[in-house]
Amino acid sequence: MERGKEVSAAQSWRLWWMGRLRSTNVGTSLMVVVLLSLLTLKWTEVISVANYAYTSARFSPVRQVWADDGFGFGILGVPWCRSRANNTVIWTRAELLQELSVFAKVYETRPIINNLNGMGFDHSFGLWFIARKLQPALAIESGVFKGHSTWILRQALPNVPIVALSPRHPRHYSKKSSAYVDSNCQYFTGKRFTDFGHISWSLVLAEHKVKDPSTVLVFFDDHQNQLRRIEAAQKYGFQHLVFEDNYDTGTGDHYSMRQICDQYHVSGGGHDCFKGEEELKIRNERQGRWEKAVNMSELCGDDDEWWGVQGFARDDFGHSFRKIPHSQHFENGRFVGDGLDVYWEVPPVASPILTHQTRYDPARTVLPLLLGEDKALFQELGLQNVPRHAFNGYTQMAYVKLLPASLD
Ligand SMILES: C[S@@+](CC[C@H](N)C(=O)[O-])C[C@H]1O[C@@H](n2cnc3c(N)ncnc32)[C@H](O)[C@@H]1O
Repeated sequence: MERGKEVSAAQSWRLWWMGRLRSTNVGTSLMVVVLLSLLTLKWTEVISVANYAYTSARFSPVRQVWADDGFGFGILGVPWCRSRANNTVIWTRAELLQELSVFAKVYETRPIINNLNGMGFDHSFGLWFIARKLQPALAIESGVFKGHSTWILRQALPNVPIVALSPRHPRHYSKKSSAYVDSNCQYFTGKRFTDFGHISWSLVLAEHKVKDPSTVLVFFDDHQNQLRRIEAAQKYGFQHLVFEDNYDTGTGDHYSMRQICDQYHVSGGGHDCFKGEEELKIRNERQGRWEKAVNMSELCGDDDEWWGVQGFARDDFGHSFRKIPHSQHFENGRFVGDGLDVYWEVPPVASPILTHQTRYDPARTVLPLLLGEDKALFQELGLQNVPRHAFNGYTQMAYVKLLPASLD
């Protein structure tokens, strides 16, 4: 069985305790877990266990019975951006599950069957779900490609205008494959293309009779430095943001929310490049199995810089990159945290035991909605007919709600 391969006896014992702790008070849980762990584990494991209990507790209701299909979900930490207000999302896991059954049918009707290099099933569901829940007055999309995500927004928001920004119009792709062009979408593409940070948003919003930017949903799938996106969103008063490629530390082609929030003081965050640590062992074990898993020598730069990608903040599909000192990375995390109301990562839809995905490493993600024990439901929803590659694109899509801009 998978579990035997990946989880040692000590870890199994730890996981059992974590399962027990899920049904008790979180504060008490953390104290008990730290005490128990101190007795039996190294300090790095203490942090990992405490982080996991914390991360799990944030997204309630959680499962009463511990099960992770033996994939070790979250055992390497899930850095969770700290919101100053300590708020979480208004939706529950039960609602996600309920909506998944609706979305499974919607996804079957997608015009672009193979959206290679664009969004797969997990993030399509996440965007559709968030848009439906928020019901914004207007949706902005940055990064259109063939138009799959425009179509997803349209399914969630049948009557809401969309503003789409991308260097190329989606019709450009229709010569060689399928594409989607929306009739209620204002495209800033081709010669009209303007980067999100340079558009006169007050004029565009006025055109659509939208008075309050906090009623707008902004979706980014443009592979640009997400710190810059947060700064621009704050400047224009946008509060509801979704980031598609929320790459994990050490991976990806832009500085992401996940990377920015990967800090020592954040739950699930921080790394120690000192070789011989527990993280080194676990990462090495997982490397051959998961394409996106990174080992410590890939994670750490020449001078042990682990933040961003080996101490670099990448930007613009990796075409530009800037080395940043740890103090700058820390400041970036603080800046984001100060403006944050809610941070939430879309969970993977289903465990790899069901989807057979081999790309993202579960050790750095939250529990999926469906576990192995939910196989019947997975099949009932028709998800076994979704092509395997559509489950390979999970990169921790994040919903970010910013605090309203302060008046001083
Ligand atoms: C990964 S694709 C988007 C996929 C699409 N959201 C989907 O799921 O089908 C990234 C897109 O961003 C576009 N892009 C590149 N630079 C951009 C920028 N500065 N602003 C907006 N879009 C940009 C690219 O041309 C490409 O179409």
